[in-house]
Amino acid sequence: MGNRQKMVFGNWKMNLNKKEAEILCNELNDGLAIADVKVGVFPSFPYVSQVAENANHFSIGVQNFYPQETGAFTGEVSITQVKDVGAELALIGHSERRSIFNETHSFLKKKVDASLVAGITPVFCCGEPFEVRNAGEERAYVLQQLEESLFHLDKRAIQKCVIAYEPVWAIGTGLTASTEQAEDMHSAIRSWIANQYDQECADSISILYGGSCNASNAKELFSCPNVDGGLIGGASLKSDSFLAIIHSF
Ligand code: PGA
Repeated sequence: MGNRQKMVFGNWKMNLNKKEAEILCNELNDGLAIADVKVGVFPSFPYVSQVAENANHFSIGVQNFYPQETGAFTGEVSITQVKDVGAELALIGHSERRSIFNETHSFLKKKVDASLVAGITPVFCCGEPFEVRNAGEERAYVLQQLEESLFHLDKRAIQKCVIAYEPVWAIGTGLTASTEQAEDMHSAIRSWIANQYDQECADSISILYGGSCNASNAKELFSCPNVDGGLIGGASLKSDSFLAIIHSF
């Protein structure tokens, strides 16, 4: 096994107002003293710089950006702009962006490239919808997501990425993948990376689980050999549950 960084990231989605974001940030500052888990939060755009200025023990990421440097793209935000206000991470390929905003494999590939050029860590999300798992085709589906948007990178570049496996049927539903389902997909992802690159590369990349991960199931999920942490939605909006997840390592 490689010496992988453990990580817990909170995807706030389109939640919290300015005051709530400030309170949560302060509570995380007070509650986070452990050094060996990398913690990050992904606030809504209006609060990214505020949270980045106040965060002491955790990194800031963005939920979205547009993969062009500058220009006439009304309503969009570039990766260099978010870097400018303190972001270090970017979610790419979240299922809500794929399904609600029609982000395609090739568009996600551009986002991965733009993020790496800017020196921002891509947190690349993949995962199958319910019908696909029901048909027993989840491995082929996830492999295709990786092949189309990530496996064009060279070894050095892919080692700068974090992967989050988030089965779509588990996101925000209260249904969590079992430890067997999570470990099975995480080890498949790692072996595809080993095939495409090499084992050392595969062993160095953190693969997080996401999808109704909470304070009661995190310990079990994080004990899987190929699960290196979590991408947390609902349970990251309250400091007690988010801190409990982080401390379940
Ligand atoms: P959830 O969301 O934890 O609320 O299921 C996870 C995510 O969408 O990243």
